[in-house]
Formats: sequence, structure tokens, C-alpha cells
Amino acid sequence: MATARIERIIATLKSSAELSYDGAGACASFSIVDGIGVKSYNSAMARDCHYGEQKRLAALGLAPFVDGCVDYVDSTGTPKYAYLSGLADSVASDVYNGFWPHSLRGAESDRAKCESDREALRTELFDRAGYSWVDDHNGNWGYVNGRPVLIDTSGY
Ligand SMILES: Nc1ncnc2c1ncn2[C@@H]1O[C@H](COP(=O)(O)OP(=O)(O)O)[C@@H](O)[C@H]1O
Ligand SMILES: [Mg+2]
Repeated sequence: MATARIERIIATLKSSAELSYDGAGACASFSIVDGIGVKSYNSAMARDCHYGEQKRLAALGLAPFVDGCVDYVDSTGTPKYAYLSGLADSVASDVYNGFWPHSLRGAESDRAKCESDREALRTELFDRAGYSWVDDHNGNWGYVNGRPVLIDTSGY
């Protein structure tokens, strides 16, 4: 990604507390800045691990693309370790509703398709990537161009 765009993203991350998700799991926060997802972690090791796994799965079309890592200090002075991710269309009824699993959003008639797409994703993850998907609630997967993809790679 071009340096100017990365600098713009970091400047926004430093100043903004606008998050679409404020950590309940491994990911400390998720925000959308300049049209791209920013997944932030509290340790470089956690970030590197999730980034590497998403990159591997993205190459197989099983996760959104990744576009490099950024380190920054947030508006409270806390160091954050993030990576840039393509956006998936979430299937969850909300971002975090206080309990897992998320329920599916959409009409009842769409849900059967969602359920079968989720099972197809599970099979592909295992057969093509050796990935055994344990943390399989509906906040952890979505669609990119109509294809089911894994959002949260911490659920081996
Ligand atoms: N690539 C993405 N596209 C769209 N939404 C995302 C993406 N990554 C994360 N999110 C949103 O942020 C939430 C938390 O991300 P996730 O990777 O599941 O973190 P955690 O490890 O904390 O569960 C997801 O449930 C989803 O709502
Ligand atoms: Mg998750």
C-alpha cells in the first residue's frame, strides 16, 4: 500500500476512538478507515500470528485479503499492533451482543443458505488448508463477492 495512505490511516487511528468493534476476543479492536479494515491487537505476537494465518487462507480464497501491518499508539497512549484487511459482509445480527454465538441476520428464508454456506466453508477450511474451525460463531465469518470466508483466524 502507498506510504501516504498508510500515514493517513495511522493518523486517523491515533486520533479516533470510532470503532466498529471493541475487543471481546483476541482482536483488541476492529475499525474501518479509508475503506479498509484495521484489525488491532495488544501484542505484536498476536498480530503477527493472525496476520500470517489470514494471509495463508486469503491465498486460497478462504479469507479476506491482507495488506500489510501497521504499528501505532492510540488516543489513550496504548501501543497497538494492527494489520490491514479487506472487508467481508458480516452475516451476524450485530457486532457483539454480549453472548456467543451471534445469531444470523436476514430473513428466515436466507438463513438456510447461510447455514449451508457456513458448513461448506468449514469443509473447505479443513480439506484445503488443514484448518479445523472451532470458534465458528456467526461473528467470525462472512462473504466476499458472494463467497463465504473466514473473518477470525484465531479459532483454529
Ligand atoms: N475483515 C472483516 N470484515 C468485516 N468485519 C470484520 C472483519 N474483521 C473483523 N470484523 C468485525 O470485527 C469483529 C471482531 O473481529 P474478530 O476477528 O472476530 O476478533 P476477535 O478475535 O476479537 O473475536 C467481527 O465479529 C466482525 O464484526
Ligand atoms: Mg471473533
